[in-house]
Amino acid sequence: MLDMGGTRMIQLRGITKTYTSPDGTIVEALRGIDLDIGDGEIFGIIGLSGAGKSTLLRTINRLEEPTSGTVVIDGTEITSLDERSLRQARRGMGMIFQHFNLLSSRDAAGNVAFPLELEGKSTLQIAERVKNMLSLVGLSDKAHSYPSQLSGGQKQRVAIARALANEPKFLLCDEATSALDPKTTRSILSLLAEVNKTLGVTIIVVTHEMNVIREICSRVAILENGRVVEQGSVRDLFFNPRSRTAREFLAKLPRTGGEADLPHEAGKPVAVLSFDGENAGLPLISQTVKATGVDINILAGAIDNLYVSRVGTLTVQFEGAPEVIAASLEMIRQAGVKAEVIWNG
Ligand SMILES: Nc1ncnc2c1ncn2[C@@H]1O[C@H](COP(=O)(O)OP(=O)(O)OP(=O)(O)O)[C@@H](O)[C@H]1O
Ligand SMILES: [Mg+2]
Repeated sequence: MLDMGGTRMIQLRGITKTYTSPDGTIVEALRGIDLDIGDGEIFGIIGLSGAGKSTLLRTINRLEEPTSGTVVIDGTEITSLDERSLRQARRGMGMIFQHFNLLSSRDAAGNVAFPLELEGKSTLQIAERVKNMLSLVGLSDKAHSYPSQLSGGQKQRVAIARALANEPKFLLCDEATSALDPKTTRSILSLLAEVNKTLGVTIIVVTHEMNVIREICSRVAILENGRVVEQGSVRDLFFNPRSRTAREFLAKLPRTGGEADLPHEAGKPVAVLSFDGENAGLPLISQTVKATGVDINILAGAIDNLYVSRVGTLTVQFEGAPEVIAASLEMIRQAGVKAEVIWNG
């Protein structure tokens, strides 16, 4: 697991970006962003449309010049590099996009070869690397297919192979799965996770979909209107979301276990219990029932499979004398489980 006490590879400090449109309208796309992204992690940036995600991602390799603030990568201040050194630094950063951005006039192999040609690699080196990259993304048999002959998922695989051709340390992904169906999305996400694990590439994922964060990220920042409103481990986000935006994103997430029609009966409070792992919930409930004599009716249960761990929630209804219910809630909380009463009629 990531050691957050160790080196921080990408450091963003006080990043702002103000756009001025031709008609003089001013847009403050980024309003002072501080972020640390660690070596080898998969870091997510999530936010609604217009929050500033793409702008933020593009300031990391200065495809977008920040209006103020600094970007430091491995101790090098990217924001003060001249053109030539910047070009050099950018070689260490691959990028993939929602619409793949492949060259339609070149086949898959030709697309992967492109950045290697720009580097002036020899024909032999290029052939070898293209072969390895296409094999890595599972497309050895499509080397001579053109983008128009490939599915969306296959196109994104070619784009990933191309982005990794020059052995970058970072992969910047801007909505890389947003044009794909859920099944293809999962296959691309697991490819990214594999790239992270086997090649040690640090991956930064920009998305508006919480399932992307859930499936591959270890840490996340939530962007709202050009500001980071919450950041931390994905586990903490699922366990204890603090910002309104985070709660809204989580509520939209389809969860295993489904939603309950909540009963609103007088004297029968309903609570959501959040606990670690999938097994911790049920034994605690039966212990509580035995100890206090309360009745607990399970309305819904859900387990979120995070990339790093599992977080479970149970929605339950209590039945019993008020003091018995209070004692039961106390017992549950004493066991380290979060219990949020959502109906107390
Ligand atoms: N070149 C530009 N000129 C003027 N305004 C811009 C420019 N690029 C982005 N903006 C504005 O900056 C804000 C942030 O845009 P950005 O593209 O970073 O958002 P986003 O979070 O990536 O959105 P989406 O999810 O729709 O891709 C928006 O209000 C957008 O209109
Ligand atoms: Mg965007």
